Amino acid sequence: MFPTERPRRLRRTPALRRLVAETTLSPEDLVYPLFVAEGMSEPRPILAMPGQFQHSLESLLREAHRAHAAGVGGIILFGVPSVKDDQGSGAFDPNGIAQVALRALREEFDDDLLIMADLCLDEYTSHGHCGVLRPDGSVDNDQTLDLYGRVAVAQASAGAAVVAPSGMMDGQVGAIRSALDSAGFTDTVIMAYAAKYASGLYGPFREAVGVEITGGGNRKSYQQDPRNRRESWREAQLDVDEGADIVMVKPAMSYLDVVSDLRAQLDVPISAYHVSGEYAMIKAAAANGWIDGDLVAMEQLTAIRRAGADFILTYFAREIAETLS
Ligand code: PBG
Repeated sequence: MFPTERPRRLRRTPALRRLVAETTLSPEDLVYPLFVAEGMSEPRPILAMPGQFQHSLESLLREAHRAHAAGVGGIILFGVPSVKDDQGSGAFDPNGIAQVALRALREEFDDDLLIMADLCLDEYTSHGHCGVLRPDGSVDNDQTLDLYGRVAVAQASAGAAVVAPSGMMDGQVGAIRSALDSAGFTDTVIMAYAAKYASGLYGPFREAVGVEITGGGNRKSYQQDPRNRRESWREAQLDVDEGADIVMVKPAMSYLDVVSDLRAQLDVPISAYHVSGEYAMIKAAAANGWIDGDLVAMEQLTAIRRAGADFILTYFAREIAETLS
């Protein structure tokens, strides 16, 4: 008595497995987040994210060249200012660190390397929130929108081809689109952090950008509740209606259901952010010899693609792109 169905037949050799693979992972599917810090002469390692740095302008360009050579799909820049204030004005100052770095990147690569900018205030505010505060300490959604518009124009003027609003204010995509259009930046792409959850997995990122929310606060009044799935459908649809060109889900691994839902519902490109904590967990377990870090990184990035993401923001981008190319 022989089994009539033999799925294993198609798994016998590498050539057969490659032929029937449903999912691909290529360097161009990976976008590399990079941190640039103001007033630094040497790159400083981020302890909770082994292999990642707060870059100086010089080391930023060096790392961007390596990523470009490995064929990554793009880079996304985060600025770490040396001075913060309650408005986060460094985020829209033409001479703020992100704008200085964007101009340097643009001069170096022009359009050969896709340059994106994270668009938020939290790295620049003294209180660490993604928006400006009312006297009672709550985040003022609508006042924040005006500032996001200014950040978008500053980043586009400095050379960002894509701006990526990550602050989860209602109406942020519409406000940014209209600010960009009014300033003549009709071709600047908006990649919206559309479904962004209030996650414990952003822990290492706080060290990367030096952000501490004062008074032990959190972002639960603007980032999504991990218990909610349908809410993401609404968030993403609103962003598309307001003019988002690409929508993102963040974090990635714990929200693959959301990635899959949005892929089925929307016809815009979908991205997912494999965040700092997801990176740190793999690095930490690998450093202990408990898992094979490269293998697990590859497996997770492939799983995110399988769930429906067109591309992935990941701190593994340069490293994995090098092994793929
Ligand atoms: C907000 C922002 C955050 C991340 C990207 N953009 C932090 C937050 O929302 O608290 C997290 C990225 C990561 O953890 O890798 N500017």
